[in-house]
Amino acid sequence: MNHNDHISASWDTNADLWTRAVRQDLIPSRRAGTDQAIVDAVMALKPQRVVDIGCGEGWLIRQLGCDGVGVDGSAALIEAAQSADAAGHYFALTYEDLVAQPDKLAGPYDVAIFNFSLLGEDISDILRAARVSVSPSVSGGAVLIQTLHPWAARGEGGYRNGWRHETFSSFASGEWQPMPWYYRTLETWCGEVEDAGLKLKAIHEPMHKTNGEPLSVIFHCAEI
Ligand SMILES: C[S@@+](CC[C@H](N)C(=O)[O-])C[C@H]1O[C@@H](n2cnc3c(N)ncnc32)[C@H](O)[C@@H]1O
Repeated sequence: MNHNDHISASWDTNADLWTRAVRQDLIPSRRAGTDQAIVDAVMALKPQRVVDIGCGEGWLIRQLGCDGVGVDGSAALIEAAQSADAAGHYFALTYEDLVAQPDKLAGPYDVAIFNFSLLGEDISDILRAARVSVSPSVSGGAVLIQTLHPWAARGEGGYRNGWRHETFSSFASGEWQPMPWYYRTLETWCGEVEDAGLKLKAIHEPMHKTNGEPLSVIFHCAEI
């Protein structure tokens, strides 16, 4: 199995545990501010229509309350999203599906969001598909990416690009299937954005309220 297959398999296996962790607010960094940070970043753009790519069990679309579409490669997570939001629009599609058939993204959107959902090494194709799905005529058209802060998440692998291993041990208890994920430095993140034909408009660094560490980074990107 290659890394991407491992990533997909882990989300299928972990779907129930993940849904419980998100819905019962069991992930410390989310409680500390990353959920609110992405909601604030999206709402600041006053979007009418958004797409959440790698939406998981769909919390963000439910929270935003605007016209939204969620897509995710895990059929189990899409089922969880749909059952919590019967009127919502959720589709089981992998990034590979969306790159091969960009029409499936069913744009245009004002904002395309990746909230901790860019986990593989090759991300420029899906970023490009997201770029094409946003309409520059409304709110400037934005792609928002929230991800682990490269400095805070460097861990034992140090500040260098490479595959890492998530065991989910700091999350809720349970038999989680570990997942590979690709770590990249800030410079590499900026390069990926540029390679996808996007311009970096702003970088936000949500901070932990008490320990002064960055909780995440949000890249606000727009069409060049
Ligand atoms: C950490 S979860 C985040 C879920 C959601 N965005 C949230 O904030 O709760 C990562 C999500 O990205 C999705 N994902 C990762 N790689 C994917 C791919 N290649 N195609 C489709 N979905 C993918 C996973 O299925 C998973 O639901």
